[in-house]
Amino acid sequence: MKLVKHLANLGYGSRKEMMALIRNGRITDAAGGELDFDTTIAHKELRYDGKPLDPDASAVVMLNKPLGFTCSTKDPGRIVYDILPMRFRFRKPPVSPIGRLDRDTTGLLLFTADGNFLHRVISPKSNVPKVYEATLARPLTGGEATIFASGTMMLESETKPLLPAELVVTGEKTARLTLHEGRYHQVRRMFAAVGNHVDALHRAAVGGLTLGDLPEGQWRELDAQEVAKVILS
Ligand code: URA
Repeated sequence: MKLVKHLANLGYGSRKEMMALIRNGRITDAAGGELDFDTTIAHKELRYDGKPLDPDASAVVMLNKPLGFTCSTKDPGRIVYDILPMRFRFRKPPVSPIGRLDRDTTGLLLFTADGNFLHRVISPKSNVPKVYEATLARPLTGGEATIFASGTMMLESETKPLLPAELVVTGEKTARLTLHEGRYHQVRRMFAAVGNHVDALHRAAVGGLTLGDLPEGQWRELDAQEVAKVILS
């Protein structure tokens, strides 16, 4: 793709603004060499004021989502895009979250502009497990794991039973739950259905990918090995 269009698609500004940046020598190759408007150059070779550009359209980005941010572009409150560079809202193709987390859920949230990858991750066929750590209002009773694993559990106002989910009790009021689907408020509704209440919820893993040491509120691009860990099968 021509340089001007590539930069505009990454949300850095209009084509006219990109032409001005290139003309003023602020967009260069990795060696600092000036470029033509219609150059086609590998994304990783580009620099803006000497620094690498944002991840390109094939990238997958991991965010450690903090509490209180909605997975939406329009919500009047705080949104996950507030944490990413402002430019991400103007990208073509758009950068979208891969699945969603509630406003009050923290943890691993992936984003990509690669529609094929997004659909592979959320497709039931890929069976990508999602691991949640729940802190509950009341002590666990001991029967939850069997109910969650049954494959017959029904949530209120739904007609299809939940797929079996694995519960590991980690404390009196804490548990790790692995889901193989993603229904609306699923973890909270599952615990509500067995008479409990989720006080805090954190997503620790998607497929074989964990947050590692990424601090809360921070994001970074995944490398190829990490991307491969998301879809296990
Ligand atoms: N289940 C929930 O209840 N909330 C989330 O954010 C994700 C799964």
